[in-house]
Amino acid sequence: MVSRVCSCSLVDLIPSSETEIGNPNLIAGRGSCMSSALAASSVVSTAQLSPRIRPAVDRVEASKIAEVAMGHLDRPGLIPLWFGESDLTTPDFINQAATEALARGETFYTHKRGIPELRDTLAGDMSGLYGRTSSSDRVSVTSSGMSAIMITFQILVDAGEEVIIISPVWPNAALVVETLGGTPKFVTLDRRQDGGFSFDVEKVRAAIGPKTRAIFVASPGNPTGWTMSSQEQQQLLDVARETGVWIVSDEVYARMVYDRKAAPSFLEIVEEDDPVIVVNSFSKSWAMTGWRLGWLTHPPMIDPAFDKLVEYNTSGAPTFLQYAGVTAIKEGEPFVASMLERCRKGRDLVIPALQSMGRVQVANPDASFYAFFHVNGAGDTLELARSLVEKSNVGLAPGNAFGPGGDGYLRLCFASSEETLSEAMDRLRPHLS
Ligand SMILES: Cc1ncc(COP(=O)(O)O)c(C=O)c1O
Repeated sequence: MVSRVCSCSLVDLIPSSETEIGNPNLIAGRGSCMSSALAASSVVSTAQLSPRIRPAVDRVEASKIAEVAMGHLDRPGLIPLWFGESDLTTPDFINQAATEALARGETFYTHKRGIPELRDTLAGDMSGLYGRTSSSDRVSVTSSGMSAIMITFQILVDAGEEVIIISPVWPNAALVVETLGGTPKFVTLDRRQDGGFSFDVEKVRAAIGPKTRAIFVASPGNPTGWTMSSQEQQQLLDVARETGVWIVSDEVYARMVYDRKAAPSFLEIVEEDDPVIVVNSFSKSWAMTGWRLGWLTHPPMIDPAFDKLVEYNTSGAPTFLQYAGVTAIKEGEPFVASMLERCRKGRDLVIPALQSMGRVQVANPDASFYAFFHVNGAGDTLELARSLVEKSNVGLAPGNAFGPGGDGYLRLCFASSEETLSEAMDRLRPHLS
């Protein structure tokens, strides 16, 4: 069609299917060679674009846990201990609060930073836990811990900038940085003699360069269960204050800790304007993984950016779920305690059983619901995890899914019943001894 407009135009060179990507009607309406040539050049540049995915997104690897699990989720008799969630459903009193909110008609758009009742409740709860007043002005509700991390890095990180990630760690934060065109720079925890992990703030300080925007640390950690001490948090905070680099502290396992009510938190030591953003979630301690509800605690300077970006991510967490969140916090302490007790039993069953298997080295985690264990001579645990599904019908996550420092390890989530875990240990023993 375009080539009929003017015989001297460039458009003859363009395959007809591509010229149709330009605007042939516009071109057809013009009579002169000049305008046709101009129109043609716009067609050329349009035609040069072909549909594509952003390379930064294209490069992001698929989850290695999913790689192991894919095709095996429906195996008869499988014991799936590869994902990070308990086998308990959300307790009824929380479900009921959501149902009542629905029945009341809480189905409309609401405050982007969360309903005031939930922000007040969270602030009150954190003030009680950490012995310092947390103001609801500093709390923003999100649609999951994951979404909280996405919005946080959208606020902090530009393409070409770096985020230091303390690893081994749940991989999503690093992958978010990559999707934004940034670069994760891993600083590994040191492996202790007993199979546990320890942190060296000087390694973090040494890794900070001119492009570093943030340090991401998950404590209590997934997959390691490693928990940062208050002293280590203070050291890292000093580094952040000195350098202006943000700390993004992922504390979604804050209440999943075995020797005290809550793990040490940056919220115990930060001043209001410190460059620290704390990520939290309802998923783990309240058995609410499928609800996708979380929250951030952050300094005032984040407010305008959060308001903008939450609008373009989710426009706020679902209204009726937020009312259930209020109930979870206000009435959920007995459930949080019972979940912890169940996980303690799981840990006390799984850790000695693993330690009795000849090839395994593992320390007792102080927190979280994972056994992250080293298998001597395993090498690539992606292959080992695959073969364990085939041979033992137990689903485990490979250590190299968790970044540098994870090679040679497997992760097992022990937030299941004692019968299930006992059966899993029996099935794994012949392959790990
Ligand atoms: C360390 C860590 N942070 C954040 C999350 C995300 O939690 P949510 O379910 O709220 O997205 C997880 C989930 O496994 C996690 O392990």
